[in-house]
Amino acid sequence: MNNTAKPESQIARTPAESARPRTRREGFRWRNPYIDLIQTQAHNLVAPTGRVFSDDERSDLRARLAPYVDSPGGVLVELGSGMGNHLVAQALRSPQAFLVGFELRFKRLYRSAEKADIAGAKNLLIVQDDARHLALNFAPGTLKAVFVNFPDPWSKRKWLKHRLLTDKFVATFRELLCPGGVLAYKTDQQQAFEGTLEVLKADQGLEITKLSYDLHNSEFAKDNLRTEFESLFVGQKLPIYMVEARKR
Ligand SMILES: C[S@@+](CC[C@H](N)C(=O)[O-])C[C@H]1O[C@@H](n2cnc3c(N)ncnc32)[C@H](O)[C@@H]1O
Repeated sequence: MNNTAKPESQIARTPAESARPRTRREGFRWRNPYIDLIQTQAHNLVAPTGRVFSDDERSDLRARLAPYVDSPGGVLVELGSGMGNHLVAQALRSPQAFLVGFELRFKRLYRSAEKADIAGAKNLLIVQDDARHLALNFAPGTLKAVFVNFPDPWSKRKWLKHRLLTDKFVATFRELLCPGGVLAYKTDQQQAFEGTLEVLKADQGLEITKLSYDLHNSEFAKDNLRTEFESLFVGQKLPIYMVEARKR
């Protein structure tokens, strides 16, 4: 370290710096920088202006998504798409399809959109919307696949109602799938997985086509596209549970 350097507290500030509030008492309010950054990604990222989409914004979103249902590869949806590793990889793997990722968190939305640009994946849209609103965005029978990768576990009993793959939402997602469409689920959470597996098995409109209690040591490993969370869990040598169910 340079011995002549002054401590930070003694460095003179410019007038603009001095005028800027630095504490809550002075009026400082932290603003998530990704709220503004996502505005720069309008070509591949849609977010509501308020906390949720207004009726007009919702119908614009529906109108924007509707034509992709006729893509040769159909529309593939990922719920809780995180930082977008799987979404972007899936878009590159399926150039005939159109991918839509639903995610709530600003930084993850922005990073996904940026990742798609860097990878040159143009066949996707990232949407800041609650996954449980999926039926507001698509008509029944229009989706080719719904991916749910490592959803938040909501492991306490009193939180179970927040889980994404309850019987109610599985039924909704099945309604949205076209015949032959696939609901694909991966997790590291054994108990949540077994609960969802029961729901899928009990659903007469679905048929289990792939099942593994240790995806990375299974015949399905070679076609697997890793998510960010998956890489973490695999690094910790945790087994990954995977199931795919096809709409009859
Ligand atoms: C555990 S992370 C997994 C992220 C990514 N799928 C992965 O595997 O790396 C769960 C993600 O779902 C998002 N999420 C949670 N609830 C959601 C909801 N209701 N609608 C949309 N996204 C949601 C979270 O913000 C988070 O990014």
